[in-house]
Order: sequence, then C-alpha cells, then structure tokens
Amino acid sequence: MYIRDATYNDLPGVLDIERLSFAQPWSLASFRRELSLSFSRLILAVSDEGNDGGRIAGYLCRWLVAGESHILNIAAHPDFRRRGVGTALMAHAVAEAQTRKATLMILEVRRSNLEARSLYRKFGFEERRLRRNYYGPGEDALVMELLVD
Ligand SMILES: CC(C)(COP(=O)(O)OP(=O)(O)OC[C@H]1O[C@@H](n2cnc3c(N)ncnc32)[C@H](O)[C@@H]1OP(=O)(O)O)[C@@H](O)C(=O)NCCC(=O)NCCS
Repeated sequence: MYIRDATYNDLPGVLDIERLSFAQPWSLASFRRELSLSFSRLILAVSDEGNDGGRIAGYLCRWLVAGESHILNIAAHPDFRRRGVGTALMAHAVAEAQTRKATLMILEVRRSNLEARSLYRKFGFEERRLRRNYYGPGEDALVMELLVD
C-alpha cells in the first residue's frame, strides 16, 4: 500500500467508500470543493497487492489552518478494514503535521464509533470535550486532540 494525493479522477472511487462508510455521506460536490481549497488535502491509501493493485483502499481529508491540522474525514473500504489502512493514513497526516510545524491536530468523532476512537487513541489523541447530541438525538460527538511535537 502507498499514499498519494487524490485528483478529480479518483473521486468516484472515494465516493464509493464514503457511501459504504457513512449514513450521511459527503457528496461528490463536497469532495470536489475540498480539492479546490488550498488549505485542504485529500490523500489516498492505494493497494499495491495483486488483483487489488491500484484500488483505492481508503482516504483521509485534512485542513491545515493557522498551525492546526483538522482531520475532517477518514474511511477505509470495507474490503480493506483492519488491514492497516486507517493507520497508514493517520501516520501520514501526523508526519505531515510535524513537518509543516502544526502545533495541534484536532478531529470530531461519534462517541459510539469505538473503532475510530481506538485508532485515534493509538496515535496519542486525547478526548477533550463532549458535544451532546451533536449528530442528532443521542449521538454525541467527542472532540479529540493531539499536541504535535
Ligand atoms: C475507523 C476506520 C477508518 C479504521 O480503518 P482500518 O483501516 O480498519 O484501521 P486499521 O486496520 O489501521 O486499525 C487501526 C486501529 O483501529 C482500531 N480498530 C479498527 N477497526 C476496529 C474494530 N473493528 N474494532 C475495534 N478497533 C478497531 C484498532 O485500534 C486498530 O488497531 P489494532 O488492529 O492494533 O487493534 C474504519 O473502521 C472505517 O473506515 N470506518 C468507517 C468510517 C469511519 O467511521 N470513519 C471515522 C469517522 S470519525
């Protein structure tokens, strides 16, 4: 697997994963907008294994604004889950934040999303704030942060 930046041609594949991953997926227009923003970056994890070679296994979108890296979206294709895709994407984002001298990484996650919370904790993110009913009745958001050194 390797990491590269997404282009417009990749968006159908990204959208497939988005729809398989979220009840309220981003639209094609949302992803197109991200590609047009100078402070936004959409990276892909691409498989280099046999028949899957060239397939998009996952993606991550971040904003780098005012010295902070905001993780807006991350997903792995269900076929590739639990195979290190999320880890590779997060490792790339953390390394980039260090290189770009960001001081903080920040993200929001559903409290019920134990898989994602576990992934973020592995990178040292800490749960800082709870936003009650942020995603609707009974769906709280957790704000997680990582101080970048
Ligand atoms: C969260 C997500 C991106 C993880 O991607 P992944 O490629 O499966 O993750 P990895 O294989 O790199 O696993 C890394 C860690 O994540 C956690 N994790 C991933 N899947 C898990 C599961 N089913 N149960 C518990 N922990 C899990 C574990 O801590 C795991 O480390 P471990 O394998 O050493 O236990 C993936 O589950 C996904 O796309 N979910 C749907 C979209 C989503 O919820 N995105 C996050 C929005 S905030």
